[in-house]
Amino acid sequence: MTDVQIRRLVPGDGGRYREIRLKALAESPEAFAATYTVEAAFTAERWEERLAGGVTTLVAAVDGADAGLVAVMPGGAEHPRRAHLVAMWVDPAARGRGVGGLLVDAALSRAREMDATEVELWVVDGNEPAIALYKSRGFTPTGVRGTLPSDPSVGESHFLLADL
Ligand SMILES: CC(C)(COP(=O)(O)OP(=O)(O)OC[C@H]1O[C@@H](n2cnc3c(N)ncnc32)[C@H](O)[C@@H]1OP(=O)(O)O)[C@@H](O)C(=O)NCCC(=O)NCCS
Repeated sequence: MTDVQIRRLVPGDGGRYREIRLKALAESPEAFAATYTVEAAFTAERWEERLAGGVTTLVAAVDGADAGLVAVMPGGAEHPRRAHLVAMWVDPAARGRGVGGLLVDAALSRAREMDATEVELWVVDGNEPAIALYKSRGFTPTGVRGTLPSDPSVGESHFLLADL
């Protein structure tokens, strides 16, 4: 039986955060707007700053080793009660065992604590595992389309969970 522990990273966890985030960017470059090259150059202080701000970063430890990541950000002025889910990743060795689902569930709980009433996210075209995961948690496509800033040839779709 797999043991999965979801934990929020806090100031002081910068090294742990850097390690799993860079693994995610290296392993799934096509899934993210951010790039490995840019974030690999971040200083230790920058990783700590990211943990000290308003973004909640959650890590999944599977059988004691970090194997998944997700982050929740508060909404902007236009949608103050809308949280954003970003940075979702599960190590390939741990996929298909419910870890992604547990991370999304924990992110949604955190969004509720932040007083959000809805949660949005973006998924690149063709990322069927991620689309299946988000749909299983009630997200639906809004029809709004965009492109990846890091590669404008890649299209992405906006998803919303409107009844958090
Ligand atoms: C998307 C991702 C996070 C899923 O993680 P996971 O731990 O394998 O997901 P889970 O095992 O928790 O599956 C959750 C749900 O998604 C569905 N799902 C997951 N992988 C799937 C796949 N390859 N094909 C079809 N459905 C899939 C499952 O059916 C499951 O539904 P259920 O809870 O109703 O049974 C993982 O594949 C990943 O990290 N991909 C690369 C990074 C990425 O694409 N991130 C998303 C950026 S928007």
